[in-house]
Amino acid sequence: MSDPYIQNLFAERIGGKSYGKGTEIYKFEKIKRAKRAALAANPGAELIDMGVGEPDEMAFPECVDALAAAARKPDNRGYADNGADPYKHAAARWMRNVCGVEGIDPATQIVHSIGSKAALSILPACFINPGDVALMTTPGYPVFGTHAKYYGGEVYNLPLLEKNNFLPDLSSVPADKLKRAKTLVINYPNNPTGASATPQFFAEVVAFAKKHNLIVIHDAAYAALVFEGKPLSFLATPGAIDVGVELHSMSKGFNMTGWRLGFVVGNPLIVKAYADVKDNTDSGQFLAVQEACAYSLDHPEITQKIASKYSRRMTGLVEVLNKHGLNARKPKGSFFLYVKAPKAATGKDGKRVAFEKAEAFSQWMITEKLISTVPWDDAGAYVRFSVTFVAKDEADERRVLGEIDKRLAGSKFEF
Ligand SMILES: Cc1ncc(COP(=O)(O)O)c(C=O)c1O
Repeated sequence: MSDPYIQNLFAERIGGKSYGKGTEIYKFEKIKRAKRAALAANPGAELIDMGVGEPDEMAFPECVDALAAAARKPDNRGYADNGADPYKHAAARWMRNVCGVEGIDPATQIVHSIGSKAALSILPACFINPGDVALMTTPGYPVFGTHAKYYGGEVYNLPLLEKNNFLPDLSSVPADKLKRAKTLVINYPNNPTGASATPQFFAEVVAFAKKHNLIVIHDAAYAALVFEGKPLSFLATPGAIDVGVELHSMSKGFNMTGWRLGFVVGNPLIVKAYADVKDNTDSGQFLAVQEACAYSLDHPEITQKIASKYSRRMTGLVEVLNKHGLNARKPKGSFFLYVKAPKAATGKDGKRVAFEKAEAFSQWMITEKLISTVPWDDAGAYVRFSVTFVAKDEADERRVLGEIDKRLAGSKFEF
């Protein structure tokens, strides 16, 4: 049967006439299939899922109550457009109280986003012309780069390497790419490496941006999930406001992934361009969600409680993995533990199995151990454990960690 005419109408950016015809199976689909097969082969067994990139718990009850009350207000019923003042003001207070960034003007330096993902998909429209280069880091969250390419831009990926503490080596960008580069997207605490930035690195980024006329977009989706000290905002760096914006999100720090709210803060010209394109893209997040999130931003102790849970789980997981020779190091924030993938292990049948890539190791972990992780082969072979696994209380957390310990016994990992 011939293709319907619609098949010939797809834009080249999503594959043109070949759209949907590829046979390649993507990473997350492979994980899903392996999980399904492992459960079918082991009926009733517990699959420990550490592949999930979102909180395992609901938003706090007081935030849900604030949402319910706000949803009943007639004034909150309509289009929100580029947002309401209370959320912007709460965001500016949060930047000051939690991140120590003073002097943010909510009127000109903050606009909400329907989550960081939406902001990352809108910002390329503000800057990327065909042929422009977008500097990104890899492994990483690809949304800005995907949209930059939709606009005819080119992505240059800077590898995040362990020897550089998973910070990009800015001096490694080739001169011809740098000449055409307009944007640099960074993300700390980082997904997937769990690495944190330093004030020195951020100062280097500001100097680099000024020297090469770059716009910096700091995706700070995990900013407040730190295990000690204060979150490190890029905007706390002298001169940062002249070169960039920071993207904050309610998703991870307040258990609100489904609520879809964040904010873009920083350089007023960049914020204005974002607001203009956003205004032509969406009609804003529900004002009741904004009102409840304004309440939440004024209660940073919520994030501290969430972070301390992840910190506790992280300590336990690091201990278990190290016991079995997996060389884990507790990060300073986020909920991701990034561990080098072994080259081989010993299976339940006593036979040695070699792993060519992290993906093979991750598949083996699902099939053989019923433990799900996410593999990354972009800059070295690593797997990401997320401490957002399901456990109903601290005792249950200890049980899950004990279970991981038992399952990894005798694996004899080789590097
Ligand atoms: C690095 C990074 N940026 C952005 C996002 C998207 O966050 P949001 O829920 O705010 O859209 C995620 C979500 O996984 C992420 O890992």
